[in-house]
Amino acid sequence: MKMYKDLSPSLRTIMTPGPVEVDPRVLRAMSFPILGQFDPEFTDLMNETMGMLRQVFQTSNQWAYPVDGTSRSGIEAALTSLIEPGDKVLIPIYGRFGYLLMEIAERCGAEIATLETEWGSVFDPEEVIRAIHREKPKLVAIVHGETSTGRMQPLADIGKVCRELDILLVVDAVATIGGTPVETDAWGLDVVIGGTQKCLSVPSGMSPLTYNSRAEAKILRRKTIEKGLRDPMSQTLSAGTAIRSNYFDLSQLQDYWSPARLNHHTEATSMLYALREGLRIVLEEGLEVRFARHALNEKALMAGIQSMGLQLYGDPKCKLPMVTCIRIPEGIDGEAVRAMLLEQFGIEIASSFGPLKGKIWRIGTMGFSCRKKNVLHLLGALEAVMICFGVPIHAAAGVQAALQVYREGEVPVE
Ligand SMILES: Cc1ncc(COP(=O)(O)O)c(C=O)c1O
Repeated sequence: MKMYKDLSPSLRTIMTPGPVEVDPRVLRAMSFPILGQFDPEFTDLMNETMGMLRQVFQTSNQWAYPVDGTSRSGIEAALTSLIEPGDKVLIPIYGRFGYLLMEIAERCGAEIATLETEWGSVFDPEEVIRAIHREKPKLVAIVHGETSTGRMQPLADIGKVCRELDILLVVDAVATIGGTPVETDAWGLDVVIGGTQKCLSVPSGMSPLTYNSRAEAKILRRKTIEKGLRDPMSQTLSAGTAIRSNYFDLSQLQDYWSPARLNHHTEATSMLYALREGLRIVLEEGLEVRFARHALNEKALMAGIQSMGLQLYGDPKCKLPMVTCIRIPEGIDGEAVRAMLLEQFGIEIASSFGPLKGKIWRIGTMGFSCRKKNVLHLLGALEAVMICFGVPIHAAAGVQAALQVYREGEVPVE
């Protein structure tokens, strides 16, 4: 019989756009004993998690809870529950994850209208607003922080127009939640989906989301399941177009997260512990301090990269604070560089997708990975690796420039 070794994963410095390192407090929380999902001790933890999510999403929405599954599970739950076949959906795309929104909306039977702009930039909100007036969609779905290109889309003006025209606005804030402001209510966002494995620094496996009463009204109008598909345990259902997924039916999920606790799936106990602990850490640090910490480490990293002589990728005016993209120098094998960083220094950075594959490296400064030690460690290692690959850089200038940023930084860093 084949024997398998004890599990012993290496201790990495993870500087990718997710998954990132996890605070030991979160790992500890995951090792606590299982509670039954209807045990009042557990349902209290669920309620506390909802309360903390409202604060992180900056909303007074009643509904703020996690969907079990990776971040796209929250996106899929939102779109599947809101889009009826034939609904017109507008999707402005400025990177890979815009295409994910498009693919999911297509699977929901939406009539899709897209708007595309060059990768490395974002939309002038006016352009999106013109498309909204032209296409008259029922729903607009857009990414806030596009990790494939390292760009961030301003949303407040788009939110205002969607509200005026009674259009639902669904936002993928998977990368931004917990790292930079995501002002659900102030920006007029109807549905916001976050991710755990990025700036919240919790393992992948849950997708917290929030939605307001406008979105809820649409979801509840669809609360029906065709005869034959209905779970006999579900309550009486009204007429409408059925939500095609059981697992991602937000009307059923909200019943489960409501005081009624109507049985749906079996909650992922250890992930709930992890999310609760991760959110507690975020709120203990304070949102403003946390955002400033992300901004400071980003500034130090960018100063280091540029002083070393490497080129940043993308329009600086719309840079995503937690993802920094570097142009791979001409003639250099980007994958060989990544392999050397991992093998010799235990540091992981990311490549990119589609038209950017082989063209850029992406460095994440997210959550628990977003630390002075990690930034300096990465810059020192990158300088060494660039020298090994014969790239003409200003040796040691990167680390010095980052140190200078930290000296001047106003935020206390680790
Ligand atoms: C912006 C964005 N949206 C959605 C996703 C999908 O998340 P997951 O891979 O956890 O399903 C990712 C993952 O990296 C992402 O960066």
